[in-house]
Amino acid sequence: MGNAICDLFGVRYPIVMGAISQTPELAAAISNAGGLGCIAGAIAPPDLLRSRIRQLKELTDKPFSLNFPIALTPEKDIQAKMEMMGEEGVPVVITSAGSPRVWTKMLQDRGSKVAHVLPTLMHARKAVEAGVDAIIAEPAESGGYRGDHEVSMMVLIRAIRRAFPETPLVAAGAVADGPGFAAVIALGADGVQLGTRFIATLEANAPEHVRKLILAATDISTMSAEGRIKPRINRPELAEEVLGERKQTQMGQVSAIIDSIEPVEKVIREMVEGAAEASRRLAHNIEVFQGAAV
Ligand SMILES: Cc1cc2nc3c(=O)[nH]c(=O)nc-3n(C[C@H](O)[C@H](O)[C@H](O)COP(=O)(O)O)c2cc1C
Repeated sequence: MGNAICDLFGVRYPIVMGAISQTPELAAAISNAGGLGCIAGAIAPPDLLRSRIRQLKELTDKPFSLNFPIALTPEKDIQAKMEMMGEEGVPVVITSAGSPRVWTKMLQDRGSKVAHVLPTLMHARKAVEAGVDAIIAEPAESGGYRGDHEVSMMVLIRAIRRAFPETPLVAAGAVADGPGFAAVIALGADGVQLGTRFIATLEANAPEHVRKLILAATDISTMSAEGRIKPRINRPELAEEVLGERKQTQMGQVSAIIDSIEPVEKVIREMVEGAAEASRRLAHNIEVFQGAAV
């Protein structure tokens, strides 16, 4: 039996890049390192997006994805963008912040795999009914759009996995290292989506203030932003302390355990090696107390 996400997306590792960059360089580095790179597709008009997809195809021959938060994509451009993705043969389309019912079938008919990002079991039901190929579950901890419901990773992944044992499932957020990666797989996910950890890479080329905020953050440095889609952002106190001014950036709780800017290849390699080591420790611990119980 293979890994459902590796098999579905055709990648070496079930490590998906979140929609954290509109340009192709970081996506290419991640796809070339064995993950699934991503271009954030909401803002660029269709022609610019097409040229970015073509640039990405020059930089990698590996699978990649395009991400659309439907509510944030200008309505006038959506149809043209969706059609363009079929023309360009985009392997994976990730939709979020909106209904998966409207676009899933059309995208699949044009040859893309479709994954939908969602924050609750109720949204997962709708996505499965819409026929998505995979679910990307975004818990309270993540740097993404979590809506009004603060469902934790521990509960969200278990609830979705129990309801939908067969659906390929990616855990989005709260993971920055091998033990976290192993933990979400232990919960029932098939893979992970990383936002904040990939912003803190050399290839992301993030602005200096963003890097400083992520590296300085502790477990109490982020909060939910106001508004309908509620991204997680730094607390103003962190920016005051680190930058001397009230700047705001979107970042996950996981920034608490990110303390260096590293090359993408190293992040992925250490995450895979760390997950293998964590799973050995887990298996050993369980064997010990199972043995002791009898
Ligand atoms: C700066 C930033 C921008 C993001 N933009 C989007 C987006 O446009 N669409 C989307 O589905 N998710 C978006 N996300 C969420 C990521 O795709 C990913 O699911 C999330 O960051 C995972 O949580 P983590 O940051 O704890 O790893 C964004 C996240 C960050 C940090």
